[in-house]
Amino acid sequence: MTNYTVVEGQSQEQAAVRSRVSALMVIFGASGDLAKRKLLPALYSLYHKGLLPKGFSVLGYARSEYDDESFRERAREGIEAYGDVEVIEKEWAEFAQGLFYVSGGYDDTADFEKLRDRIGEIDQIRTTDNNRLFYLATPPAVYQSVATQLGNVNLVGPVNDNCWTRLVVEKPFGHDLPSAHKLNEHLLGIFDEDQIYRIDHYLGKETVQNILFFRFANGIFEPIWNRNYVDNVQITVAETIGVEERGGYYDKSGALRDMAQNHMMQLVSLVAMEAPVAFDAKAVRDQKVNLLRSIRPLKPEEVPHYTVRAQYRAGKAGKEDLINYWDEDGVEENSTTETYVAWKLEIDNWRWNGVPFYLRTGKGMARKVSEITITFRRVPHMVFQNGDGTEHVSRNILTIRIQPNEGIHLKINAKQPGPAIHMQPVDMEFNYGSSFGGDPPDAYQRLILDVILGDSTLFTRRDEVEIAWDRVTRVQEGWRLQEAQEIEENGRPLRLPTYTAGTWGPKESDAMLAADSQGWREPDGRH
Ligand code: BG6
Repeated sequence: MTNYTVVEGQSQEQAAVRSRVSALMVIFGASGDLAKRKLLPALYSLYHKGLLPKGFSVLGYARSEYDDESFRERAREGIEAYGDVEVIEKEWAEFAQGLFYVSGGYDDTADFEKLRDRIGEIDQIRTTDNNRLFYLATPPAVYQSVATQLGNVNLVGPVNDNCWTRLVVEKPFGHDLPSAHKLNEHLLGIFDEDQIYRIDHYLGKETVQNILFFRFANGIFEPIWNRNYVDNVQITVAETIGVEERGGYYDKSGALRDMAQNHMMQLVSLVAMEAPVAFDAKAVRDQKVNLLRSIRPLKPEEVPHYTVRAQYRAGKAGKEDLINYWDEDGVEENSTTETYVAWKLEIDNWRWNGVPFYLRTGKGMARKVSEITITFRRVPHMVFQNGDGTEHVSRNILTIRIQPNEGIHLKINAKQPGPAIHMQPVDMEFNYGSSFGGDPPDAYQRLILDVILGDSTLFTRRDEVEIAWDRVTRVQEGWRLQEAQEIEENGRPLRLPTYTAGTWGPKESDAMLAADSQGWREPDGRH
């Protein structure tokens, strides 16, 4: 990560931004949901906090017919509905002056010439310093053609040696290893790797970044962060929502590709990687790649033993009344797409050999919660007995809560007050809100700022994406084999296990852990 000189009255980020030059951000897919819900609100918050360089401008590009004015109105609607700061009229007027729009197709050189001309005009009227940030917020099907067209109209190379041009690519980055590889090859035929920023918004979450600080800025955890002391690691990323209006996309994707290949693999790599030699993009990503490579690749026939997939059935999940997954719009009859996946990973290296990493993620679950729990081994010899003669001693459990109620807590055993010996697990905790005041900013703010600053530490590198896809694609191959066997042996399509929306998942998932004499830790909801 970059170091900045901070002068009095400036936050570190403000100092960083002001020490840099300005830019123009071109959002492809600017009329879509991501721009409205995430990107524009994040940009406005950055502006409000004084974190955008002077003259920073945004040019929306999409097929829909908007002009500058109607795009500004749409942006404001998004910011008011989804932003984390109130819109202040004076600030809005200044911010809106830097928003522009041009409509066009994604595979039409004439339209991209129009785009290039508009960029030239904006460079003249605003201080963009000729730096360009192209953001692919379109459906993935057009990523390649946008990159090709940018090349065709000569928008890839920096304007001169003092400028930069960067490309931000949203997820999904491919749908399996071959497609991710092909996309990488295509983009790298046009851009250099150091111009490409592959987004995984989990890396922009403060608590996710805190995993590295927690591990490597404290001396007391690393010595016990290994197979000698850790019994198992669990990662839960649960959501209450169903597939909402995204049935068409989701049914082709499923929980494994939508969440595990990216967000969960990132969490595994940060929790389990070796210490980087420095906190910079190369050192951190080298270690993440090493870790991902150590995840044991599964053979197709092993996959059913290491994974459980399931679909939700109607139920109430949090505030959501969900219908059967099969009845959702855009979902195919007899679909075998999973809305829940549990996956037991083995990591073949000196630090983790023999320590299972249990991952689970799903839609329509009991609560929205993302957390990592590290369960430590029992004490080697227990000298205390409870008054009733039992030895009910809980294991130490460290929980890293990513959302909501961001924080870290450690469960330890204590003696209950009184003459009798009675042990009780109690918590030591760090709570993000009470320590730092307020909720952490949305991940996109951090990530957009890092692209402007040219810091790719929190973005996924080519090899990282491909190795994660390799492990996921092997699981998919195992599932395809299982489906083919079902048809061959029983003459009908495979029926996935189910779970009622609003629960923690199917019983088969509990059984997978029970076979190892383990159980899922239910997030306790207190933190
Ligand atoms: C996205 C997935 O990447 O992450 C969505 O495509 C999911 O299906 C979302 O709902 C969850 O993100 P968060 O930040 O709410 O945990």
